Amino acid sequence: MKECVHAAIIMDGNGRWAKAQGLPRTAGHLAGADNVRTIAIAADEMGIRYLTLYAFSTENWKRAREEVKYIMKLPAVFFKKYMQEFIDRGFRMNILGELDRLPDNTRKVLEDAMEQSKNNTGLNLNICMNYGSQREITLAARAYAKDVLEGRASLDIEEADFEKYLMTKDFPPVDLLIRTSGEQRISNYLLWQIAYAELAFVKEAWPEFTPEVLRRCLEEYGHRDRRFGGIKDE
Ligand code: FPP
Repeated sequence: MKECVHAAIIMDGNGRWAKAQGLPRTAGHLAGADNVRTIAIAADEMGIRYLTLYAFSTENWKRAREEVKYIMKLPAVFFKKYMQEFIDRGFRMNILGELDRLPDNTRKVLEDAMEQSKNNTGLNLNICMNYGSQREITLAARAYAKDVLEGRASLDIEEADFEKYLMTKDFPPVDLLIRTSGEQRISNYLLWQIAYAELAFVKEAWPEFTPEVLRRCLEEYGHRDRRFGGIKDE
C-alpha cells in the first residue's frame, strides 16, 4: 500500500462529544488528550513516521478563560501519565508554535518533553500549541528578510530554501490530513505543508477517533491517485 510517512490531524469535536455525554467541555479535552496516546501508538504501529496534531491554535485564545486555562494545564497531566511510555517506544516529541506566549509552566513542560526525547529515532509526535499557519509563514518571512538584510541569504530564494524558515523544517511534507467531527475546514493549519496532501474528513469526534478509524483513513489514502500536479502517478 502507498506509504503515509507524515499524517496530520485536526482533533476537532471534543466539546460536542462531551456535551453529548452530559459532561463539561473540559472532560472532552481530557478524553481527547488520552486519545492522543492511543492514536500515536496506533500510528506508529501502522508505519507512520511523523504525526502532527493540532492541540491549540493561535485563534483558540478567544475561548472562555476557564477552558483555555484547562487546556494549558493538560500537557503536564498528559506527559506525567505517558512520557515514560513514549520514551520506551522511542517517540520523539516536537512542539510547534510560539511557545514564548504560553504560560511559563506549560512552556516548561513542553520544553522538557522535547529535551527528554531529543535523541529518540522512532515516531515523531508533533504537537502544535499556540500554532497558526499564517503566523508561522509571517515569522518565516521576517526571519528570511532579516537574513537578506544581514547578508546571510540571497533574494533569489526557492521554495526549498524558504521551507527552512518554517517550524516544520525538519519534517517531510504532509501526506494525509485528517479532520475529525464532520467539519470540512483547514482552520489555518499547515497551509504550506499540505500543498499536495490528501484530505480525509471523518464524522467521529476526536475522543471517538479509534485506531480502526485511522486504519480506514489510511486504506482510503492507499487508493488515492497522487499526481502532484503531473499526469499519472505510476
Ligand atoms: C477541538 O475541539 C479541540 C481543541 C481546541 C483542543 C484539542 C486539545 C486536545 C485534544 C488535548 C491535547 C493536548 C495535549 C497536551 C496532548 P473543540 O473543543 O473545538 O470541539 P467542538 O468543536 O465540539 O466545540
